[in-house]
Amino acid sequence: MTVARRELLLLGSAVVGLVGGIAPMPVFAARRRPADGAGALPMPEPVDTLPAALPVQDPARVLMDRGWMFYEGDVEPAPLETHDATYASVKAGNARGAAAVDFDDSDWQSVDLPHDWASFQPFEKTANVAQGYRARGIGWYRRTFRLDPALRGRRIELEFGGVATNATVWVNGSVVSHNFSGYSAIRIDLTPFARFGDEANVVAVRVDANAMEGWWYEGAGLYRHVWLGDYAPVSIATDGVHGDPRRRADGGWHVPVTTTLTSIAPTETPITVEARLLDPQGRVVATGQAQASVPSLDEGTATLDLPVSDPTLWSIERPTLYTLHVRLLRDGQMVDERRVPIGFRTIRFDADKGFFLNEKPVKLKGVCLHQDHAGVGTAIPDALIGWRLERLKAMGCNAVRSSHNAPTPELLDWCDRLGLVVMDENRQFNPAPEFRAQLEWLVRRDRNHPSVILWSVFNEEPMQGTPSGVEMVKRMAHWVRALDDSRPVTAAMNGAFFNPINVAQVVDVTGFNYYQGDYDRYHQLNPTKPMTSSEDTSAFMTRGAFESDPARHIASSYDDEAASWGATHRIAWKKIADRPYVAGGFVWTGFDYHGEPTPYEWPTIASFFGIMDLCGFPKTAFDIHRAAWVDDLPVVAIAPHWTWPGREGKPTKVMVLSNAERVVLRLNGKTVGEAAVDRLMGNEWTVPYAPGRIEAIAYRDGREVARTAHETTGAPVALRLTPARTVMAGDTEDAQAITIDAVDAKGRHIPTANLMSRFTIDGGAIIGVGNGDPNSHEPEKGNQRSLFNGLAQMIVRPDTGRGRIVIRATADGLKPATLRLDRLGVVPRAQVPVAAGDMDLRDWRRSERQDTRPSPDFAPASNDNNGWAFVRAGTPTPAEAAGYRVYRTVMTPRHAVAARGGEIRFASVGGMASLWVDGKMVAEKRDPQPGPLVAPLAPGAGKRTIVLIVAGLGNIESGLLGRVSVRDR
Ligand code: GAL
Repeated sequence: MTVARRELLLLGSAVVGLVGGIAPMPVFAARRRPADGAGALPMPEPVDTLPAALPVQDPARVLMDRGWMFYEGDVEPAPLETHDATYASVKAGNARGAAAVDFDDSDWQSVDLPHDWASFQPFEKTANVAQGYRARGIGWYRRTFRLDPALRGRRIELEFGGVATNATVWVNGSVVSHNFSGYSAIRIDLTPFARFGDEANVVAVRVDANAMEGWWYEGAGLYRHVWLGDYAPVSIATDGVHGDPRRRADGGWHVPVTTTLTSIAPTETPITVEARLLDPQGRVVATGQAQASVPSLDEGTATLDLPVSDPTLWSIERPTLYTLHVRLLRDGQMVDERRVPIGFRTIRFDADKGFFLNEKPVKLKGVCLHQDHAGVGTAIPDALIGWRLERLKAMGCNAVRSSHNAPTPELLDWCDRLGLVVMDENRQFNPAPEFRAQLEWLVRRDRNHPSVILWSVFNEEPMQGTPSGVEMVKRMAHWVRALDDSRPVTAAMNGAFFNPINVAQVVDVTGFNYYQGDYDRYHQLNPTKPMTSSEDTSAFMTRGAFESDPARHIASSYDDEAASWGATHRIAWKKIADRPYVAGGFVWTGFDYHGEPTPYEWPTIASFFGIMDLCGFPKTAFDIHRAAWVDDLPVVAIAPHWTWPGREGKPTKVMVLSNAERVVLRLNGKTVGEAAVDRLMGNEWTVPYAPGRIEAIAYRDGREVARTAHETTGAPVALRLTPARTVMAGDTEDAQAITIDAVDAKGRHIPTANLMSRFTIDGGAIIGVGNGDPNSHEPEKGNQRSLFNGLAQMIVRPDTGRGRIVIRATADGLKPATLRLDRLGVVPRAQVPVAAGDMDLRDWRRSERQDTRPSPDFAPASNDNNGWAFVRAGTPTPAEAAGYRVYRTVMTPRHAVAARGGEIRFASVGGMASLWVDGKMVAEKRDPQPGPLVAPLAPGAGKRTIVLIVAGLGNIESGLLGRVSVRDR
């Protein structure tokens, strides 16, 4: 952050300008599928627009995602031997090893965030099965940045969105956080540690990913954004705005706004909080003001209320967002602001009729999600998170559950915008202070999102049926309600529903994981208790496979396999759909994920549970849910595909999924089946396979409303590349999934191709590859991937600036494919610049004043903590009687200096001085007036002792008046 505050604000507002308020919901490409799907890719048609940028809530924060140095493995500092080294090592600012300010990380790898180092690992049988057979281990990250001296006195805050798993963070050599959570943000008040001007700030993070919090793939490292914020001395706390739209009994609305303020100002400060509510067009529809007085080094709150008449409601169909713009004024000047998207909606769970949104019954058609995608693991770029949710929305899904942890905040931004409601789940079931803080952080961070409708305090805890479990939930629910009493609290239970004592008694909505056979009995015994399935299904499908083969770890996609505790997609949903008192369901899972390979383990490395595979390619479950869940568009789909060489004449099961009234099935023009649609269970026929065309036509009121077909395809002749979008933002942050498939001579998608494809890219980078095969051990990084049952995927990130992205795919014997995408010139989000630079010689020992000139060997005894002072470069020795002082430090040159030599630079020395390196004099300064001193440093590795003997004249400040640094030659 060498940029001054004003520029920072400018950069921030440039981004806001680009966003232009809260953009409307994007068009769902999936709704533009060709009416007759024969030969079409089972993916949406590309769109030609960028997704709307996510809201900028806090313009004072700048991303710090670029330029991290990364080391995979642990770095043990050298053992401490001497007393003085030990004494110094435990002092503030003096962390050792890779946490030390002057540690040489020049041979580490430079990485950008989000980063998941586990996604680079090979699959190994000996590694943990639940985490997907990938080594996790320990890793280190370091990052440097500068702060403009104009920022002195301001509040500087560093935030890590999430680090997997246990993280220790140091700032400028002081440990500032021990964070034992892979899902909670780490927030650091950097103000007291900050250095300004030329001296770089150094952040070091040790990540212990051997620690696990889940039984699924959790990734490793800095897999969410990192932000640096600079705030006025009196400012709005992070997550300090709570806008809480409420409907009054008379039908009118108001928004109580509570703003938490924080101060590092020297005295109690009076301030004004101003709030404006902007409608989606940016018009001000309400304003309010409050005064508060914030004590020094403390917090304060300001509350106000915004009356709103007749707002447009937020709903799943029309997710209308307003912006709550809160400004903080001190002496009439704006010193801080937030722009928080909010939505007007009512929610309610009814014990008989389920969930109501805006007083209309809404069945929750939900899925459970882990944050994990092919190729990138947990480090999913924001745009790809949005794309995944659009895939769900296109299926008629209206709800997601962030299982079993706090989601990445951008997921909630997308859900607000797309119209998906969210069960927001806490990770650790534990009311001890550390975990209470994690729970409260979650509620504070997420309570403004209209999408969030339920807080879940746990998932499947064995103590759920015990008095102790009840005591724990009681406390946790109480803390949640204290921060947000507008949403019910639930807990995802898997049993103990009928225990005389169980946690359902102390939550608002009973969450059922599985145990679908107990729904009726529970409802009868607890007729006033609202309930929902919090998790169900756990069915198995291999995408594109239609015959189970346990020996090869393949599960058919006919929806006939499920875990013993679960049910097939159709049966699980029917149990929910048939019962109005069950608010809805959350299918385990929306997408396959790495790890927890079930029902097959090694060599299987991923799950089979997804409605879509790891890449977001649809399984039959996608059409099953589309038929059951989509109400506003006609749906008809056929399983399986129709390319079965060698099956001629053999009976073949055909499933038709539709939401119409009647379907007709035709094989090569002949009707082979006709039936009233069973929307939930689908319609099935067995027909003798004959190559050609199988077609399903759906009717409503006797009129055709939709048709689809599969055709038997020929040999592959060419590869094809299909993007999700034809345009990308030239900001290196955008990302999209591109599908690779093979086509026959008629240009038809071949569902059975399993060939290797290789890629090149110009104008962007491939950040991961996948194909949805849970049994594949091909690397997920690199420039090649085999198609699996016809499909593979690459995740592409653009370079910066306007231009083209050109991707080529080749396969042996096939015509290659070339894809050209437009890279649009956009203003990239600001990033804190890296402070590449010289090494600082910051810490020195200083002798007492001597009357005669000491020798350069003059040094403190190892146990001397007091005779020789500990001084920092830049701290002058005050004027004193004429005499000598010795300044000593020991440094280890960085690799470049060790190899080529460098320069020791004293920005300013007061007094006459001689400079000694390892006992040899290398420079002299004869003028006693303050001035620079520069000397060469000879090449050579290992420790050097630097000694500066200063002769003070008695009437001026002396010693290390400025920065001391070592420059690479
Ligand atoms: C549930 C659990 C999920 C997943 C699933 C697999 O018990 O909540 O995390 O493990 O089973 O069926």
